[in-house]
Amino acid sequence: MQIRVLGSAAGGGFPQWNCNCAMCKGYRDGSLNAKARTQSSIAISSDGEHWLLMNASPDIRAQLASFDPMQPARALRDTGISAVMLMDAQIDHTTGLLMLREGCPIDVYCADPVFEDLSVGFPIFEMLKSWNGGGLKRHPVPLSASYDSAEPFTIPEIENIKITAIPLTSKAPPYSPHRHNPVVGDNMGVFVEDTVTGGKLFYAPGLGEIEPHLLPWTEKADCLLVDGTLWRDDEMIVQEVGTQRGLQMGHLPQSGEGGMLEFLATQQARKILIHINNTNPILNEDSEERAELARQGVEVSWDGMEIEL
Ligand code: MLT
Ligand code: MN
Ligand code: ZN
Repeated sequence: MQIRVLGSAAGGGFPQWNCNCAMCKGYRDGSLNAKARTQSSIAISSDGEHWLLMNASPDIRAQLASFDPMQPARALRDTGISAVMLMDAQIDHTTGLLMLREGCPIDVYCADPVFEDLSVGFPIFEMLKSWNGGGLKRHPVPLSASYDSAEPFTIPEIENIKITAIPLTSKAPPYSPHRHNPVVGDNMGVFVEDTVTGGKLFYAPGLGEIEPHLLPWTEKADCLLVDGTLWRDDEMIVQEVGTQRGLQMGHLPQSGEGGMLEFLATQQARKILIHINNTNPILNEDSEERAELARQGVEVSWDGMEIEL
């Protein structure tokens, strides 16, 4: 399977339009060795022609323009996107659907709480209902709470790809009625398997907690593409750009006891971080934190990165 990282940043992108934190400022004034990044999204395909879009970022127009297979030009109106899957209902993962409205009807795969948030709190399913006579066609996603009772599923046109959706204890979006009252399916990760090559990906851009039910999946994966939002749990507070800790927002920080690096050190797979916040020092390619990742064999995804499994 081919995996294309369309966007590797967390909400706001990098640099964030209104931010003058050390990282965003350093990028703008050229003093930082760092790449600009759009908001998190990936595309997956086994034939290079039919792609499953995982999350629809507000930066989607630029992301599609940056990757030729997204515009295959087989018809007067055409797209390489066969379907969209949403990991959660966060603004940075869903607003791209508004930008895709000319392509309705669009097949959208998501869990029930995500569908609910996107029907009530941020009602894009309602808003786009009559668009192009089809709107967003919702497909429920079965959640596999345990490895033994897993319910893998397939998606038409995405040949030879088997997907298992795994519920994560993370956070619903700030606008959600159950932001502080989590329900199963607010956030999910996916285990994606190419049934021809045998390649296996574990993708979880919103990973708040390493829960025991995840381990059978992470241990079978060839590649972990996981939450890289913050280096420190209190990073946004220390940098005075926010009041919330990473864990309060459903993002496990990389450093510290019980952090992402400690977990990744136990894993055999290729390890790549995605959904990186603009405050995170790992964006600076010359930083001590980035060197620490390199020492631990952990990669930082970038817009345009391709992974073949
Ligand atoms: C998150 O990942 O916590 C959210 O995307 C934050 C946001 O809405 O910007
Ligand atoms: Mn986000
Ligand atoms: Zn910033």
